[in-house]
Amino acid sequence: MNYRHAFHAGNFADCMKHALLVWLLRAMARKPAGFFVLDTHAGAGRYDLAAGPAARTGEWRAGIGRLLDDPPAELADYVALVRQCGVYPGSPVLIRALLRPQDRLACCELQPDEFAALKRALRGDDRVAVHRRDAWEALGALLPPRDRRALVLVDPPYEPLDDFSRLAAGLRTGHARSPNGVFAAWYPIKHRAPVREFHTALRETGVRDIVAAELWLREPLDPARLNGCGLAVINPPFRFEAEVPPILRALLTRLGAGEPGAGIALERLVDE
Ligand SMILES: C[S@@+](CC[C@H](N)C(=O)[O-])C[C@H]1O[C@@H](n2cnc3c(N)ncnc32)[C@H](O)[C@@H]1O
Repeated sequence: MNYRHAFHAGNFADCMKHALLVWLLRAMARKPAGFFVLDTHAGAGRYDLAAGPAARTGEWRAGIGRLLDDPPAELADYVALVRQCGVYPGSPVLIRALLRPQDRLACCELQPDEFAALKRALRGDDRVAVHRRDAWEALGALLPPRDRRALVLVDPPYEPLDDFSRLAAGLRTGHARSPNGVFAAWYPIKHRAPVREFHTALRETGVRDIVAAELWLREPLDPARLNGCGLAVINPPFRFEAEVPPILRALLTRLGAGEPGAGIALERLVDE
């Protein structure tokens, strides 16, 4: 477990994941009944971009750094939340910012330092539980939530890359426990082959109603670079397919550098 998210916090891939996460949370909150969010790979919860690992890599400058001033309308909600949080919010802090009194959040994180930081970031809120627990095991153990709708974010580090192969199985396990839950799984796009295999594995799970939203900064040819990223969503809420492409386009307009092969896609992998 060498991965530390702080080196990458606020980069273009975080912006894509977090902008769509905010959209999903708003969609969940359209109904008054409470919902439960499971963040399986939660990280440290919040990141100082001005110091430490994030400042060393500076990845955020080509991500949230290009959105903070005068954000496009499609990203205004996400950027306003980032500003409201003060430091760059990881997924747990963003989710907590949008919980209503009737909603709940459970976060899992295995790495000891990240877990300790996460506990500090989320303390004092009885809607929130933090577990030092394996994500893949939690997908079976923490679902289904009692009396609540569920949103599950699965955001593994892909170090080693075999997180890709665990992902389809993990989603199948979670979906079997919570068939009406909304599941969102982030994935890197370095080159096409692992993504194609993942999409095939998802189709073979037998789970219905799956879409994939993707953003590429360039043609995904160099496997050593993060050329793009995707979010596979099971049971996408109403209007996901209409409202997410403009968000992806706004991200690409601000964060892309006009490289060959840049683009966005929203692909339906499995019908309802
Ligand atoms: C990509 S980061 C999470 C970032 C976070 N979701 C966000 O958006 O702010 C992945 C995290 O998963 C943790 N992790 C890795 N394997 C895990 C496992 N099997 N169970 C729980 N956490 C794990 C890592 O320590 C790391 O902090």
